[in-house]
Formats: sequence, C-alpha cells, structure tokens
Amino acid sequence: MKEFALSFWIYMGVMSVFVGGALRKSLAAHIRAAATIVAWLGVTVLVERLYWLSLLGFLLVAVLAAACCLYAGRSAPVLGLPTDSKVVFITGCDSGFGNAAARHLDSLGFEVIASVLHLDSPGAVELLCCCSSNLTLVQMDITQPKDVQKAFSRTKAKLGLRGLWGLVNNAGVCVSFGDAELSLMTTYRGCMEVNFFGTLNVTKTFLPLLRRARGRIVTISSPSGEQPFPSLAAYGASKAALNLVINTLRHELQPWGVEVSLILPSAFRTGQCSNSEYWEQQHKHLIESLTPGLLEEYGEEYLLETKELFQLHASRASEDLSPVISTIADALTSPQPKVRYYAGPGVQLMYFIHTYLPTFFSDKFLQRLFVKKKVVPQNDMNKNFKK
Ligand SMILES: NC(=O)c1ccc[n+]([C@@H]2O[C@H](COP(=O)([O-])OP(=O)(O)OC[C@H]3O[C@@H](n4cnc5c(N)ncnc54)[C@H](OP(=O)(O)O)[C@@H]3O)[C@@H](O)[C@H]2O)c1
Repeated sequence: MKEFALSFWIYMGVMSVFVGGALRKSLAAHIRAAATIVAWLGVTVLVERLYWLSLLGFLLVAVLAAACCLYAGRSAPVLGLPTDSKVVFITGCDSGFGNAAARHLDSLGFEVIASVLHLDSPGAVELLCCCSSNLTLVQMDITQPKDVQKAFSRTKAKLGLRGLWGLVNNAGVCVSFGDAELSLMTTYRGCMEVNFFGTLNVTKTFLPLLRRARGRIVTISSPSGEQPFPSLAAYGASKAALNLVINTLRHELQPWGVEVSLILPSAFRTGQCSNSEYWEQQHKHLIESLTPGLLEEYGEEYLLETKELFQLHASRASEDLSPVISTIADALTSPQPKVRYYAGPGVQLMYFIHTYLPTFFSDKFLQRLFVKKKVVPQNDMNKNFKK
C-alpha cells in the first residue's frame, strides 16, 4: 500500500466518479452507448499511462474528463430518415408545442394530421393558413372516446394501405397548483383524465396503425413526473403514471419495431401560463373551494405567496420553443431515437442533481429553484406540539 501516493488515490477517485457516472447514465437512459463507453474507458487507460510518465498527467485527467463530458452532451450530427410519404398524428395543436410542432413537421415534408380541441381556435386557423396542403386538421378532445374513434377513422382513411409513422402525444393540462394537501380531488382527477387516461386511450387506439408502419410514439411528459416539484403533485402524478405506461409500452413494442420516446421539457411560456388572469382565477378557485379549517391552518398569505411564485416562475420561462420542437423532430427522424430526451435550459442539470446527489440536495434544489416559499403556514403545527 505504501507505494501508492495520495495523488494516485485522488486520481482513482476522480476517474471512478466519471467512468461510473457515464456508465450509470447510459444504463439508466437505455441509450445505445457502446461507442461512448468504449471511448470513456479508452481515455481512462490512456490518461492513466500518461499519469505515470508525468505529474502533469493529473491536469490532463481533468481536461480530458471535461472534454469527454462536453462530447457526451453533444449529439453527433446524424443523417435523419426521409420524411416523404410519412404520416404523423399530433394531439393538442391549438397552441404551444403542438402548434409549433405541426408547422415544423409540415415544413420538413411530413404529412401532418394535427388534432385540435377547437377547429375555430386561432391556432387551428393559423395552421390552415400557414401550412402546406399536406396538413390535415381534425377535431379531437382526447378525453372523449367518440372523438378519438372519429379521428382514428379519418387517419385510417387518409393512410390507405400505409401505416402511421408517428404519434406525438402532446395534449396536456396543468389543471391547478397548490400543496398536495390543498389540491382538490377534482384537480387530481382532471389532470389524470387528460394527461393519463386521454393520452393512453389515444395511444391504444392508434397502435395498430403504428405497428403496421413500425413507427414511433413520441410523448411530451414533464420532469415533474420524475421529481417531486412542490405544489405540482396533481400534475406530476398524472405525468408519472403516463411515464410508467409509456416506458412499459417501450419494451412491449420492441418486437413490433415501434420505437417509443419520452420528452421532458423544462419551463416554456406556452398556453395559459403567461396569462396572469389565469393564475388569479386559479388562486380564487382554490380559496373558494378549501374548507374553512384548512384555509385557517394554512392562511391566505401562504396561498397568495404560492400564486405569486408561480406567476414569477411563468414569467421567467423560455419563449423559444425550438429546443422542444427540434427534439420532437429528432425523435421522429433519427435512425436511433433516444428513450428519453431532456429539452430546454437547466433540465439536464435538474436530472443530474435528482439522479446522482443525495435526496437532501435534490429536495433543496427543487425548493429553491421552483417555488422558493418564505411564508410558513399560519398555524405551523410545530409551534403547537411539544416534541
Ligand atoms: N410549457 C411547459 O413549460 C411544459 C413543460 C413540461 C411539459 N409540458 C407539456 O407539454 C405539452 C404541451 O403543452 P404546452 O406547454 O404546449 O401548453 P398548451 O399551449 O396549453 O398546449 C396544450 C394543448 O393541449 C390542448 N388540450 C388540453 N386539453 C385537451 C384535451 N382534453 N384534448 C385535446 N387537447 C387538449 C390545449 O388546448 P386549449 O389551448 O384549447 O386548452 C392546448 O392546445 C403538455 O403535455 C404539457 O404538460 C409543458
């Protein structure tokens, strides 16, 4: 043992963390990472040899490790699959990601079937004006089995003998916000109805067409389905349930050649979230629906702060939707689509902290990053109970 200097053990520690981290990340994400792993191991051996030749090798370790991190974070440019005569069905195209994705996929040459909640919504009208004649608009509320069946029949008629190349499960809602105890059961059910049951029904309905084309399912989920974001329990739970079903489908559909991807975007300014009137209504509705006892225990000041923090968070969200839109396109055109995509600023860091650091750090990170509450509930029970 004596012959090994302290620097050797530091070196071993650093390399173990980096190589172990790379392996764990690759395995957790089920990314086809053989080349990356071989490169990492190769670099480890090389640096280790250099280290014994010179003490500067230690510095080299740090530089190479950083370079490898950067390299692993970038996706090498790969030629995408052709888009012509491929049909893609997208849900929730009235606004936000769905609307932007419909326009982008149309411009790439896909035959897009864009489903909207309302055929006369500004977003639907815009799609008809701006897109090519290859785009078809259909009305569909994903929670209404009749609408889903109708949309399916229209898609089948359009396809003829072809299969469906892509289903983009985008439609979703964040019905309300608030601490898990304060959230109404109707809020939990509302989120589940759209984000989980609606998306599940659409996916099951369209699967025979997807299997025929050995196509792709791309689902827009949320990091709140993987991590316990404060005040988003109802929304997060519906996305967590969705993630589980989609991940299960992923391996069940392997024999059929259907590739399944999840996209987890960070915060973007879409839909209602940039509308301050929306947050006011949500807040008013919550106050009106709470029992007097709960309202007294938490206090109006606590609820007011939560609303203001959500408004602040929404105002800071990114307006540039392109990270999510290009990710949807990648999941549909890449020869090897990823199982899970993190799209948008900060979301990779969030994933890293949640996955690799102790719970204490990830909890603190979420509490500070998302809604940084300062006001404590009015009747903080700790004050009333002796330990
Ligand atoms: N924006 C973000 O920061 C963010 C982050 C993570 C995940 N996401 C997810 O991204 C997806 C798209 O959301 P977005 O951010 O683009 O917000 P958005 O602009 O509100 O888009 C959601 C779309 O879904 C539609 N929709 C709602 N209920 C529906 C139903 N029952 N049937 C069919 N369509 C329905 C909405 O129609 P109306 O406009 O008529 O209500 C809207 O067009 C959602 O699944 C959301 O959970 C968003």
